[in-house]
Amino acid sequence: MPSALIDRVYALFYGGLLSRLPEARAVRLGQALLRLLPVEGIPAFRREDPRLAVTLGGVRLPNPVILSSMYYDLRILGKALALGFGAVTTKSITPAPRPGHPEPTLVRRSSALGPGFVNCNGFKNPGLAAYRDALAGFRRTRPLIVSVAGESVEEYRAMVEGLERYADLVEVNISSPNTRLVYQLSASPERVRGLLKEVRATTTRPLVVKLSPDYLEENFRAIVPAALEVGVEAVNFGNTRRVEEPGLSQGAGGLSGPELFETVLETVRRLRETFGQGLGLIATGGIDSPAKALRALEAGADAVGYFTGFVTRGPGLARRILDALLETVDHRGLPGVSALRAAH
Ligand SMILES: Cc1cc2nc3c(=O)[nH]c(=O)nc-3n(C[C@H](O)[C@H](O)[C@H](O)COP(=O)(O)O)c2cc1C
Repeated sequence: MPSALIDRVYALFYGGLLSRLPEARAVRLGQALLRLLPVEGIPAFRREDPRLAVTLGGVRLPNPVILSSMYYDLRILGKALALGFGAVTTKSITPAPRPGHPEPTLVRRSSALGPGFVNCNGFKNPGLAAYRDALAGFRRTRPLIVSVAGESVEEYRAMVEGLERYADLVEVNISSPNTRLVYQLSASPERVRGLLKEVRATTTRPLVVKLSPDYLEENFRAIVPAALEVGVEAVNFGNTRRVEEPGLSQGAGGLSGPELFETVLETVRRLRETFGQGLGLIATGGIDSPAKALRALEAGADAVGYFTGFVTRGPGLARRILDALLETVDHRGLPGVSALRAAH
């Protein structure tokens, strides 16, 4: 099936059905279909080319497109690995299982810029022990980024210690707005420094710290400098933005989707200018088209992440981005996509 057809079929499915169902039902249906989709047998989802390869925190990714943190189900993550992503991120896992917040935990929020969401998922996940067992039997066909969260330095340390052997990179989530303890960490850069130092001492795996767009000043003044100083290889900018949302059980949640994009672009450019070429940099937030992925890489990102675009634009988006990046590389006579950054 050619990739253009995949996109057309998905647009009909999303516009005609998924975007009209109540959100919780749409999530259940979408995930059930994803578990069943025979993606492994459909080459049109993937694009293999050595010119797409990039390096992030010393790890070679076959291409710079990353599925951002949202799914913990390993059947879904296995499908995502076959969907052409250069790496896939797990949901943030916590020490104990968490049921997540009560429904409703997701509402659609569209703007003139396109469709997005506000969520208050609250880290629904099976917890460290169960996830460690599950990951032990999981075949990583492409790099896996394991995301961890906790409520204390000791909890973050235990999470990294327990899961690092199953990860190609470990992402330290200090930015989800749905649990107060994680979100408020960025307000105390000294605590973040201590946490990152402890985590760094626990693993030799490359580390990514995921930043909040709500703490720009702290990120630039203290958090990124501390991360670099203790030896964290990369930052991911970033997570969702906290907004009031009366339709959610918590009355507030994290905004994702295209409304984030301009800040992401500007911040990525500034991060690259301020902290230099050595910083590994993932741009995440509102990337839902090949043009936006290209702009983020040109602004200085090593890789781009997205979640909302996966739902609103469909499982063929990664392939479309990769096709467009290769076309640009050809057109500009560059050796590969990593030169998009240097060429800027
Ligand atoms: C329902 C939902 C759950 C999410 N769960 C997590 C999570 O567990 N950990 C995390 O770091 N980010 C989480 N995110 C944030 C995304 O990984 C991403 O950073 C954010 O949505 C911005 O990117 P996007 O605009 O492409 O979605 C979640 C986002 C959504 C919409």
